[in-house]
Amino acid sequence: MIYLKTPEEIEQMRAAATLVSQTLAEVGRWIEPGVTTRKLDTIAREFILDNGGKPACLGYEGFPGTLCIEVNETVVHGFPGERVLLDGDIVGIDTVVEKDGFMGDSCYTFAVGTISPEKKALCRTTREALYVGIEAAKPGARIGDIANAIQTYCEKRNYSVVREMCGHGIGRHMHEDPEVPNYGRRGIGHRLQDGMCICIEPMINMGSRNIVIDSNGWECRTRDRRPSAHYEHTLAITGGRTEVLTTFDYIHQAITDKFI
Ligand code: MF3
Ligand code: CO
Repeated sequence: MIYLKTPEEIEQMRAAATLVSQTLAEVGRWIEPGVTTRKLDTIAREFILDNGGKPACLGYEGFPGTLCIEVNETVVHGFPGERVLLDGDIVGIDTVVEKDGFMGDSCYTFAVGTISPEKKALCRTTREALYVGIEAAKPGARIGDIANAIQTYCEKRNYSVVREMCGHGIGRHMHEDPEVPNYGRRGIGHRLQDGMCICIEPMINMGSRNIVIDSNGWECRTRDRRPSAHYEHTLAITGGRTEVLTTFDYIHQAITDKFI
């Protein structure tokens, strides 16, 4: 069941989306070789609480952190912990913030120190694929149009698309209908209409698309242990157009050296 939002509710979605965007920028300032993923998680939790939000991932179906932290071969849902970030790593920071009952969800993959040209190209292509998906998410288009646009863009460049994890509707709940896959056929699936809010989140691998889920039931890694990248925006279809509610502008203002 898709919950359509009123313009007033979309304003509340915008507030949550702004806070999650600012949170990613705050975390980005602290990303450097030697920092632990737990430290980043603490910074995010305090920042969200200080700004009147709630860390929605913390405790969600038992998830143990505010941030999902995705180092190199980790695709999604990595736990914060004692792992130390090293020069040359890429790290995806994915989180959901609740503000006044509405959710904002975003993810950005950062460079730690100096990364290889191969990792840089993977991250660039994944971020571009997100915007290719957004471009396809016009009112009246179908979910399959978004999915196909992302898949085609990435596979043409010899990257592979993770299939087990998808984007999703969002609102008062972190995950609402419809599912928004990153692969599939054009012209199928729900039509985008006013009041829909969705998250588009390509998860793209340098090697094969296969993944393995850890015995903890959460952490998801590439089977071949080659790197994976992940970017995500929250969008609203409103007033006959598509608006991207989250933004990477705060990140790009906050960091320059970690910008891929
Ligand atoms: N963007 C992620 C998702 O949609 C956020 C997961 S938060 C978690 O799955 F709590 F589920 F880990
Ligand atoms: Co999401």
